[in-house]
Amino acid sequence: MKVCFATSECVPYAKTGGLADVSGSLPKALAELGCEVKLFMPLYASIPTLDHDLVFATELQDIPVTVGDHTHTFNVWYGHLPDSPVEVYFIDCPHYYHRPGVYTSDPDEDERYIFLQHAVFKILQRYAWAPDLIHCNDWQTSLMPVYLHKVYHWDRLFHQTATLLTIHNISYQGRFPSASIYKAGLQYDLFYPGGPYELHGAFCFMKAGIVFAGSISTVSETYAHEIQTPAFGADLDGILRARGGDLYGILNGIDTDLWHPARDPYIPQNYDFASLRKKQKNKRALLERFGLEYDEKVPTFGIVSRLTGQKGFDLLQPILGDLLVHHKMQLVVLGSGERRFEDFFNWAAATFPDRVGVYIGYHEELAHWIEAGADLFLMPSHFEPCGLNQMYSLLYGTVPIVHRTGGLADTVHDFHEFGGQGNGFSFYDATPDALYATILRAMALFHEPETWREIQRRGMMSDFSWKRSAEKYLDLYWHTVHKRRGH
Ligand code: ADP
Ligand code: GLC
Repeated sequence: MKVCFATSECVPYAKTGGLADVSGSLPKALAELGCEVKLFMPLYASIPTLDHDLVFATELQDIPVTVGDHTHTFNVWYGHLPDSPVEVYFIDCPHYYHRPGVYTSDPDEDERYIFLQHAVFKILQRYAWAPDLIHCNDWQTSLMPVYLHKVYHWDRLFHQTATLLTIHNISYQGRFPSASIYKAGLQYDLFYPGGPYELHGAFCFMKAGIVFAGSISTVSETYAHEIQTPAFGADLDGILRARGGDLYGILNGIDTDLWHPARDPYIPQNYDFASLRKKQKNKRALLERFGLEYDEKVPTFGIVSRLTGQKGFDLLQPILGDLLVHHKMQLVVLGSGERRFEDFFNWAAATFPDRVGVYIGYHEELAHWIEAGADLFLMPSHFEPCGLNQMYSLLYGTVPIVHRTGGLADTVHDFHEFGGQGNGFSFYDATPDALYATILRAMALFHEPETWREIQRRGMMSDFSWKRSAEKYLDLYWHTVHKRRGH
């Protein structure tokens, strides 16, 4: 199986969220199952070609791509995902990718990813490499199925090529003014109210991808159901229901070379369930790093997150002050994003300097320290397609408290006093009261060491490695390829 994996971010080169983790680990797991995977992404200014041993492809220089009225050329660099045979191709076009961040709100954001997707096809053509399947991820690469039907259909190279679109987050849809259709090199025939390209008067990359992709998947089973409802579908639930027969939920795996307490290269002290006592060293180091006092008996809560509305910190806002005044607890936060949440956590650190530590920004090592050092992990997301941090937390014996939605519902099982089951705590109603009650319930059990250890054990014994999920992807790839070939 030859797979072209197209993505806008990938560990270890560029990351803003979980898509980068998935892009950096799923292709490796697929390669271990025998797939030949080539990964394609932009060469952002932040990616140092030297550090990653990238090679300049002399055979692929100055290739032109026309976006609307402008033509720019690109070069190609390539390398391998660390410790794997997966080839990574970087599309080098400074005009589009030398910007301060990975994503921008610049007026040509649509052009940046239109360019990327055409560039991938051009590289495939130059190499005459016909993928059995193109795996697209989120709106940034969701036009590729459309291009296969509307722009590159003349090329026999792709006559057998199938497409899969994975939705990592339906709330980012790539909606642009209708002029973007012209920039994309498409016709206006499918742009009419309710049509394949149209959503509320805009050209919607994600919708077009959903209509044209051979199969569609998302990153947990629960989210696959949720996005077919108005409450979670972000106005695409109708089209997702229409394509419900081709929509699958496959839970993400995690890279257990990077994220496992026994092997984690970043944390002060490695440990596993048999040596769980050693986790305390990480707690001590974490609290010291934030200038907070260490006390084994005081529960430390951790947060590592993009600070956006999705993540549910508005549920914490009205109750955190009260919790900190009335209960012995500590909180360590790593995140960045919307001002209102950054201000809220800064306020908490300023008001409770001996109990709350906050780092606003992005910090890879600190993320690992919090997973290893905290006792509990907070993830009250309003919606969560999969979520990786709750899986990291489970493996690290850092008991998660989550809102029961999407991938959180599929991985965190609420502890029941009487059943002796459960690996964490979850609540159903997305309200501050429900979160409050769940935090209190968890804190009470934290002080019952035997029960707590059992909860930790069930989490630490979980298997979140990619192998199982990669097998499901491979089955879906074949199914999609067979559909395309008409048998
Ligand atoms: P999402 O993709 O919606 O942000 P996920 O839980 O799937 O949510 O993935 C988030 C990933 O980004 C995790 O690997 C997490 O550790 C990481 N992350 C988020 N914020 C930060 C931050 N401020 N510093 C370091 N890592 C972060
Ligand atoms: C998105 C989702 C997150 C998911 C990640 C990787 O960013 O918000 O829940 O884990 O993609 O699939």
